[in-house]
Amino acid sequence: MDFGWRFAFGHATDPAKDFDPAPAGTGFSYLAKAGTAAGAAKAEFDDRGWRTLNLPHDWAVELPFNDRGSGSHGYKAIGRNFPESSVGWYRKTFSIPASDVGRHITIEFDGVFRDSQVWVNGFYLGRQPSGYTGFDYDLTDYLNYGGTNVIAVRVDASLEEGWFYEGAGIYRHVWLTRTAPLHVARWGTFVTTEVKNGSATVTARASLKNDAAKDAVYEIVQNILDAEGHPVARAQSDGLALKPGASSESSIALTVPNPKLWSVETPILYKLVTSIRSAGAEVDRYETPFGIRTLRWDANEGFFLNGKRVELKGTCNHQDHAGVGVAVPDELNVFRLEQLKKMGSNAIRTSHNPPTPELLEACDRLGMLVMDENRLMGATPDVLNQLERLMKRDRNHPCVVIWSLGNEEWSIEGGDKGARITQTMQSLAQLLDPSRRFTCAIDNSWGRGSSTVIDVMGFNYFTHGDGRETGNDRYHAKFPDKPCVATEDASTLCTRGVYVEDRGHQHLTAYDKTAPDWGVLAEESWTHYAARPYVAGLFQWTGFDYRGEPTPFSWPAISSQFGILDTCGFPKDNYYYYQAWWSDHPVLHLFPHWNWPGKEGQDIEVWVYSNCEEVELFLNGISQGRKAMKRNSHLEWRVKYAPGTLLARGYSGGKEILTDKVETTGEPATIQLAPHRASIKADGEDVAVVTVQANDAQGRMAPTASNLITFQIAGPGKLIGVGNGDPSSHEADRIVEGMNTPATPGAWKRSLFQGLAQVIVQSTGEPGEITLTASSAGLMDGGLKIQASKVALQAPGH
Ligand code: GAL
Repeated sequence: MDFGWRFAFGHATDPAKDFDPAPAGTGFSYLAKAGTAAGAAKAEFDDRGWRTLNLPHDWAVELPFNDRGSGSHGYKAIGRNFPESSVGWYRKTFSIPASDVGRHITIEFDGVFRDSQVWVNGFYLGRQPSGYTGFDYDLTDYLNYGGTNVIAVRVDASLEEGWFYEGAGIYRHVWLTRTAPLHVARWGTFVTTEVKNGSATVTARASLKNDAAKDAVYEIVQNILDAEGHPVARAQSDGLALKPGASSESSIALTVPNPKLWSVETPILYKLVTSIRSAGAEVDRYETPFGIRTLRWDANEGFFLNGKRVELKGTCNHQDHAGVGVAVPDELNVFRLEQLKKMGSNAIRTSHNPPTPELLEACDRLGMLVMDENRLMGATPDVLNQLERLMKRDRNHPCVVIWSLGNEEWSIEGGDKGARITQTMQSLAQLLDPSRRFTCAIDNSWGRGSSTVIDVMGFNYFTHGDGRETGNDRYHAKFPDKPCVATEDASTLCTRGVYVEDRGHQHLTAYDKTAPDWGVLAEESWTHYAARPYVAGLFQWTGFDYRGEPTPFSWPAISSQFGILDTCGFPKDNYYYYQAWWSDHPVLHLFPHWNWPGKEGQDIEVWVYSNCEEVELFLNGISQGRKAMKRNSHLEWRVKYAPGTLLARGYSGGKEILTDKVETTGEPATIQLAPHRASIKADGEDVAVVTVQANDAQGRMAPTASNLITFQIAGPGKLIGVGNGDPSSHEADRIVEGMNTPATPGAWKRSLFQGLAQVIVQSTGEPGEITLTASSAGLMDGGLKIQASKVALQAPGH
């Protein structure tokens, strides 16, 4: 259902500008009588003047920056001060064939930010305040079979749920699901596995619903398929019956001999196929990918996957990316995860909210462990329902190895209320998933409140412990039977590619030198936790820069700088610090760049990140000294600047194993475009993430280039976002285009920031060759061809 929506701004305070669904004095409101919607909620409303677009969509990212906007959200012109741009209406017209009569049809929203109200054919379906919880409506009784139907959605992003950029609109997928009236419920299966003596017991639970007006008599057949699609186990239950409107739960144990275990290195997936059969025919089929693996959390030794200790080398991440905000295409999430994996990271924490389901699917496939986090802590039906929906949706993913009930609930975490609320949530969570453990990210008050009842202690910042350096140890001594993990640490501040602090432009440096008072440097953080094997590992704040929280700055800075990578996913130098100590391959990274005109003869700080035993540095062939590398550390030299070549040679076992160099380059001369993939699917969703860089005449990247680049695209592709990772750039992320009103030539542009920018190209749905051209005054154009290849469209979730 992602394609062909219409969109217009409503209004948060003026009904006349909000296509008012219930204007005062004009009869019944939509709550009074079924099917009495008015305004844009009415099926007949004329939306031809509205903009056309495809989902996912984030209108916040399209808005200008404004100092009256919310700093924590990145100063976009949205929120309580901007009623004219805080409410969005979406409408979609779609056909349902007459042959669907008798089928059960639902619409499923994976996530809408936020406070959405939905109507179909003028019938009010309901409201979902959460911007992160998936929700669905049963459309069966309201549809025009053999005719057109209209879905209308009003989204109100006036209020914030978090303290970070959250976007606005229908920013995740929407699905239309058709099943037989007797069907597996949404998120209706739950698979758990136990491994013993080389064999796995798979417990497959299924919730069924009979939405027919008559009794259903049926069988359930459950097959487990291995990664190649071969059946490896089968179970069947016959002679089952359900009354109209009734639900049932079933549970059966299947045996998989010699299972291939899911792990970070070998993320092997099995599939449970639940088939409902009635009168000799299959009426519904529900596929549940799952993995077979064991989890164990130990109070003294940390986390074990399949019986082996795995240090969690994780990052916390928000959802937004350069250019597109929170409307992140699935492949862009894959790109982000791959960047983290290449760093040697094996885990992410979905701070501070339920993630998009496709992110977890990618983590299952790529072997990335996940701490899956609930948004708000509380004991109200609404909060508990959000937790329940998150867990029911995500509990079959092998990547999810722990649930987080919440983050830094300052007003309760240290007291009785915190302890009671944590216990209430945890009791529910234990019923919903007895196969995993639970944490919550605790800021202060270690040893009181929430931290006394939580199943697995979550340390936010070791500096917050009683005694700073020894805080974790004191907690561990007091609660020797409680496993623990560093849910959050570091908050190290770096600006990519910048080596001289420039507060006037809100730029820090990329050296590992700056942290807010609660945070620490990357090296301090990792060294601290690497020495404490009773802690299961850590989740650094953050993998990627995100919009909002521009600490230590405010306007005009608009993005955070906590990332190990910037908002585009370009690595900062600290990336290689982690890569050196987290990955299992040799790493040698030398910085800064070597373009310092005017600084001849002056000292430049030169750093090396490496896991080589020794590194020798040369400037223009002259040794600057050979140094031994201390574990989990880095090397530094002070080098008198002279243009030329700075070269590092890395030695292990007495042999040179790696070199890295930086050279003084010439002026930018050409533009180079490099996609992360040369071929994409022609499905209207897939993307190529293109790195844009300026090179000198010899083809070397010009590390300080800031040229303004203009993009043109031809063929079956479109541009959906541009970025450059500059945390204070106010250039447009996106140019607003209707599907029939493409941007004017030259409208898509972006300056390079420290030599780099990024442009995201999406297929339009037609196969063919996409041509991207980048030009800039005085530089030779860059060009790129991307193949869009024909594929089948994504199947709905059921
Ligand atoms: C933490 C918080 C994060 C982020 C971070 C910035 O306390 O959990 O959401 O605000 O600080 O350092």
